Amino acid sequence: MRLLQTSVALCALAATAVTAQQGNTTQPANPPPAGGNSTAPGVSCGVQNDWNRIETQAQLAQLVGTNCTNILGSVLLAGPGITDLTPLAKIESVQLSIDIASTNLRTLTGLGNLKTVGENLFIHDNAQLSNVFGLNSLTTIQGGVLVYQNPQLVSIAGLATMTNINPDKSPKFAFGISVYGNPVLAALDGLQNLKTVGNVVIISNNTRLNSLDNLPSTGPFPVQSITIERLPVIKTLAPLSVFTSAANGTALKVTTCDSLTSLDGISLASVTNLTLTHNAALADVKAIGNSKIAGPIVQVDDNTKLCDLSPVQTAAGGVSGAQILNTCGKPQQQTGGSSTAGGANSGGFPGGPNMPLPGSGSFRSEAGFTLVTAAVGLLGTVFAF
Ligand SMILES: *[C@@H]1O[C@H](CO)[C@@H](O)[C@H](O)[C@H]1NC(C)=O
Ligand SMILES: *[C@@H]1O[C@H](CO)[C@@H](O)[C@H](O)[C@H]1NC(C)=O
Ligand SMILES: *[C@@H]1O[C@H](CO)[C@@H](O)[C@H](O)[C@H]1NC(C)=O
Ligand SMILES: *[C@@H]1O[C@H](CO)[C@@H](O)[C@H](O)[C@H]1NC(C)=O
Ligand SMILES: *[C@@H]1O[C@H](CO)[C@@H](O)[C@H](O)[C@H]1NC(C)=O
Ligand SMILES: *[C@@H]1O[C@H](CO)[C@@H](O)[C@H](O)[C@H]1NC(C)=O
Repeated sequence: MRLLQTSVALCALAATAVTAQQGNTTQPANPPPAGGNSTAPGVSCGVQNDWNRIETQAQLAQLVGTNCTNILGSVLLAGPGITDLTPLAKIESVQLSIDIASTNLRTLTGLGNLKTVGENLFIHDNAQLSNVFGLNSLTTIQGGVLVYQNPQLVSIAGLATMTNINPDKSPKFAFGISVYGNPVLAALDGLQNLKTVGNVVIISNNTRLNSLDNLPSTGPFPVQSITIERLPVIKTLAPLSVFTSAANGTALKVTTCDSLTSLDGISLASVTNLTLTHNAALADVKAIGNSKIAGPIVQVDDNTKLCDLSPVQTAAGGVSGAQILNTCGKPQQQTGGSSTAGGANSGGFPGGPNMPLPGSGSFRSEAGFTLVTAAVGLLGTVFAF
């Protein structure tokens, strides 16, 4: 149930476009969906502009009836009672979002005619899902694709027909590509044919992900934020070179990637927030030297091999309150920091003593994290105005 709550929170975000609830549309013959802009011809079913919550195969059969090709509103296929998607074999479009959550599905067989999703595609917390094969026709997601917390998911290669995520670059969709918490996912194959990617890229906490290969390669793709986090095996960020800064810059977070030695591949002209923390092997941040970091957040902490900070310092030169702490195995400086931040980090003043902090590595890491989190909280407040 905890997992479902996550879903609800995300769905609430995803459903911001919902404005009015219409009555139930019970399989009318060839309707133009009232009040909507569905371009789908054919038969529609489901509740317009609302979630159709489906928890059993019987409910699924009832939703789609015999001839439905277009599901109105959003559809939540949730729980262990969902074991077979073949009743959806005629579905070509979902007007808003489709959320496949906590089911007992092993694959997505049954969605072979689905071509378009009007908002987001969520695939999460499915205990037995090992791949997403079955999506043989999917080309366009108007919002984002979120694949998360599927404990047995090895491959997303079934997404390979997909060419467009948020092709209109609509700011209302906060998700672009979000793939996180899939502990046995080995590769990102499946994303390679995208021609648009939306506003946000999050690849996080996929602990066996070998590389970022098969992110799309035909950019440039301007994005508002990139999060690369808890990927202990990846060795290079080179595939990120297709992502460029959005008009307002890009927030960049690279954290807890234990095998990563350099930031090579980052090619962002304008960075808003920068977070580089807990990367045990990161020694080379030259790639960030080509960026202009505008802040408000610059947080560099606990990268024990990172000794040449000059690219960050150059790029972040004008940022007030930059937090550059405990790197190269020692406390470091803060550039132009507020007195609050300085006070929070004893020994972290510019020109301060280059002493290792006491305690074990993990103690240092935790302590550093706490300090920075506290400081960032305050800075966030200061710079919010
Ligand atoms: C739509 O149908 C469902 C199930 O048949 C029902 O619970 C719900 O109240 C209906 N909504 C409207 C707006 O008629
Ligand atoms: C339908 O499309 C028109 C023109 O593209 C647009 O102005 C209108 O806001 C849309 N209506 C809805 C309900 O999406
Ligand atoms: C489904 O379509 C078939 C063929 O057009 C038609 O004969 C049948 O009546 C339709 N069924 C429903 C429930 O609309
Ligand atoms: C990372 O993913 C694992 C497995 O899905 C999950 O148990 C864990 O809570 C996640 N960690 C974080 C920090 O999100
Ligand atoms: C981006 O910049 C434009 C123009 O400066 C501004 O109007 C807009 O609100 C900004 N958008 C975001 C998401 O910050
Ligand atoms: C940057 O950091 C600020 C302060 O924490 C936060 O409000 C903002 O959402 C962040 N921007 C992005 C794009 O992550």
